[in-house]
Formats: sequence, C-alpha cells, structure tokens
Amino acid sequence: MNLLNALKQEIAGLDFSRALPKTVSFLRQNVAHYNWVGVYMLEGDELVLKAWDGPEATQHTRIPIGKGICGLAAREKRTVIVGDVNADPRYLACFPYTRSEIVVPILKGTQVLGEIDIDSNTLNAFTEKDREFLEQVAALLGERYG
Ligand code: SME
Repeated sequence: MNLLNALKQEIAGLDFSRALPKTVSFLRQNVAHYNWVGVYMLEGDELVLKAWDGPEATQHTRIPIGKGICGLAAREKRTVIVGDVNADPRYLACFPYTRSEIVVPILKGTQVLGEIDIDSNTLNAFTEKDREFLEQVAALLGERYG
C-alpha cells in the first residue's frame, strides 16, 4: 500500500481535529527525513500550532502571517521549500539542527485554513515528490475540515 492510502486508513472516520495528531505522527514515523512535523491553523492573522510530533516542542506556537517561511506559504497560498534554512533570511529558527524545511498550505477552495510544516535535519531534504505527496495530504485534511 502506498503511504497516502495508509494515511487515509489511519485517519478514516476521524473528524478534522482528531485527524491532525494522527497525521503528524504518521508522517514523522513513516518518512525518515521528516524530523519535526506540525500543523498550524490560521486564526485571524496568526498561524497557531494545533498538532506536532518531533523530538522537542517549538517556541513558535503562534506565528504572525507576516513572519517566517510559514507566513510566506500562507500569504502566497503555495508550497514553499527551503533547501538551506541557514541561507534564507525569512526563516524563523526553531531547532538548531534543522537544515531544510517544507511548508504546504491546507486550502479549502482558495481559502487558507492552515498548513503543514516539516523540518528536516538534512540539507536539501525535500523534493518534488515530497511536494506532491504533502499537497495530497493537505487536500485530505482540507476535505475533512468544517
Ligand atoms: N521555521 C518556521 C517556523 C516554525 S518551526 O519550523 C516549527 C518558519 O520559518 O516559519
């Protein structure tokens, strides 16, 4: 079974808020280069951390939409991949060992509901395959919302 179908099974019958913690843990446990996985939801002009899985908590539990890679993905309603976070001045540092990051918006139509944020300890860890897969995961969550 492919990973997307395995995730669908994992969250079958769960509503949005119950699906979130299952989804972040599933992603972290099943993909080696996903070292920290979180879901932020847009509340007003802030992104608020709702679920995460990783070795430690982030201090960035609320991110203004104007800040960070997370803010950029929400403002531009598109996936953002940063191959080398230390070379990107927009990056908001959470963990000293993070080297690359992907942020994928969760959309309902054209409205941004939130986003999936994944940090990797490996440089240039995220490829078009990750983008495709995670955009499908975000679509699954978006369908389930509300
Ligand atoms: N690095 C993110 C902030 C969130 S932490 O990665 C968990 C950013 O630049 O927006």
